[in-house]
Amino acid sequence: MNENNTNINWYPGHMAKAKREIEEKLKLVDIVYELIDARVPYSSKNPMIDDVLKNKPRLIIMTKCDMADEKENKKWEAYYNKKGLSVILVDSIDGYNVKKIVPLSKEILKEKIERDRLRGLKPRPIRSMIIGIPNVGKSTLLNKLVGKKVALVGNKPGVTKAQQWVRLNKDLDLLDTPGVLWPKFDEKKVAINLALSGAIRDEVLPIEEIGNYLLDYLKKYYKDDLAKAYGIDVSLDNYEICDEIMKKRGNIKSTDECFNLIIQDFRNCRIANITLDRL
Ligand code: G4P
Repeated sequence: MNENNTNINWYPGHMAKAKREIEEKLKLVDIVYELIDARVPYSSKNPMIDDVLKNKPRLIIMTKCDMADEKENKKWEAYYNKKGLSVILVDSIDGYNVKKIVPLSKEILKEKIERDRLRGLKPRPIRSMIIGIPNVGKSTLLNKLVGKKVALVGNKPGVTKAQQWVRLNKDLDLLDTPGVLWPKFDEKKVAINLALSGAIRDEVLPIEEIGNYLLDYLKKYYKDDLAKAYGIDVSLDNYEICDEIMKKRGNIKSTDECFNLIIQDFRNCRIANITLDRL
């Protein structure tokens, strides 16, 4: 992180530890499900992961696609596809596309499956694991895949346990310990996007900074939605906009409360379905 953000609880040790833990588990699986948040498809993707996964077969799962901007979803999907990565957009709450994950995994691994068959190896379920930053939707997706509530086992120091597999169907097993990635936010924009999406605590950055950033972004990309949501003139500056909102809503008494309102409205998709990263 550049600038004055030493209050962010991050240090390189976190990253090294996460990397080591994922590398250990990687040996156990055939395919990795890399979860990224469709609302922040750049900011929620840890760039370190390419080094860790190397040539391991992988499926990028863009979670919360129901909350993000549909047009941008398509652009990001095409972008990662172009890089040679398989991508699927999912809504783990209503289940959109979740059933396609298993057939897609078989498709990605079809050469390996065929190789094993030719070598006379007995067929066994594909082994997979989920990785992603906090709050990206790892537990929610696992539960939807399994069709019932399964508690994910976190990485608790000092707790040794046998690796556990959750049977997804006769062809696919999932490691119940997700790889928790530390978000990488050495760009200011990324830190703000992660705070807005709920991946990092929002107290780590001043509300005024996050609020101003969001408002500027909305004015640029979601002007009409913003005007409609609050009944305001969006050509005003951010503080004038807050004054307007305060006049309209008696319960909002300060600029910070106003920024907070806009942030909560973003998180609850009350303004529009918004994607915060642009290609
Ligand atoms: P994690 O294991 O990666 O940490 O994430 P988790 O599954 O706990 O999901 C974090 C939040 O995101 C949960 O909301 C969950 O319901 C929501 N979520 C996950 N996947 C989807 C999706 O595809 N669509 C939508 N709309 N929501 C999704 P929560 O329990 O309300 O937590 P919070 O948002 O209050 O933190």
